[in-house]
Amino acid sequence: MNALIKQHLIDPEICIRCGTCEETCAVDAVTHNDDNYVVDMEKCNYCMDCIAPCPTGSIDNWRTVHTAYSLEEQFSWEELPEQEKIADGGGDETIEALEDEISALLAEAHKGTGGKAVAPASASKPSVNLYRRSAAASARVQGKLRLTEEGTGNDVRHIVLDLGDTVFPVLEGQSIGIVPPGEDANGRPHDVRLYSVASARDGERPNTNNLALTVKREKGGVCSNYLCDLERGDQVQVTGPFGSTFLIPEDPSAKLLMICTGTGSAPFRAFTERRRRTMPTITGGLTLYFGARRPEELPYFGPLKKVPADLMTQHLVYSRLPDAPKEYVQDRMLENVDDLSMLLSQATAHVYICGLKGMEAGVDDSFAEICRRSGRDWAALKAEMREAGRYHVETY
Ligand code: A2P
Repeated sequence: MNALIKQHLIDPEICIRCGTCEETCAVDAVTHNDDNYVVDMEKCNYCMDCIAPCPTGSIDNWRTVHTAYSLEEQFSWEELPEQEKIADGGGDETIEALEDEISALLAEAHKGTGGKAVAPASASKPSVNLYRRSAAASARVQGKLRLTEEGTGNDVRHIVLDLGDTVFPVLEGQSIGIVPPGEDANGRPHDVRLYSVASARDGERPNTNNLALTVKREKGGVCSNYLCDLERGDQVQVTGPFGSTFLIPEDPSAKLLMICTGTGSAPFRAFTERRRRTMPTITGGLTLYFGARRPEELPYFGPLKKVPADLMTQHLVYSRLPDAPKEYVQDRMLENVDDLSMLLSQATAHVYICGLKGMEAGVDDSFAEICRRSGRDWAALKAEMREAGRYHVETY
């Protein structure tokens, strides 16, 4: 019988296919096809470098096996297999030794991250992975709108997709995959790209089977240019939905702190709509810290101005105003230490961070400073909040 191994696996139900693990892996052990990101046991050296950067914790899954699951098996999974019963002779000691070894490595890798992502306790149950590239859903472009002013360097679009008769349930905070047509220079089909849904679960227009995306045209970006150039009536191949932790609590007393840059605002537009439509008299509030270069380049600037102050407290923060010093969201947080400190002290507070990866460390430092000033330990609080489904990060 083969020796026991602890196989590193990625949970296809939680993974949002952001590709961070593949980018992080120095030995190319992480790979993907159109459906799943997987770990090649032949190459994985257990360095654990991929663990902390994964925004969902889907990377942190392990099975004790005698024979490793092949890449083909992993590519075909819609969910992780149960831990198989290890045959007698594997020896508990061996299993325990393996468990201990991996736990020690993981504890080191998780230092400062607060551990795995968990959905809010009161969140609705999401549907995931209903459509894959091999059996994608078809959507029709129903509307498109430029969100940033013409002439600015930022071309960000609001794109509404109509799912017609296709059952495609999404929750606020989930993403969908877009399949760009065509092939790359090597003749391989282009990769599926993920976009956060910017509308509420009951549709961009209430009780309609459609959804909106917030797409920034990236220089040379295959999928973003494809999406931004679509015309009304065009058909788009869609996969997903993806994501099972970055979700809104249904508890009306939950207080949501939403921190974003640029198109990271998409899920927060969805959260705001959900709250606006279902809980006009909520007891828990919404607080938004939103960073952009200038007002003209802040997606949803106009609509945001119309959100009533009793529904949401807004901090719109600009980095490139002609007559003001550069300001980032994390800088503004430090100007509101008392409010944020008060918020963090409440068991109903939920923190969401979405946008540029660079922002994550800056925001973390500000939380640490805010906690320090009130004699609290941010690392411990973050871990506690994360475990309780009250701390969520999605950066790219
Ligand atoms: P900057 O002026 O330095 O680029 P956009 O998507 O339009 O580029 O907007 C992203 C916003 O996030 C910009 O205002 C950008 O500022 C800002 N930003 C860039 N890096 C960071 C960071 N590390 N932390 C917080 N905000 C950042």
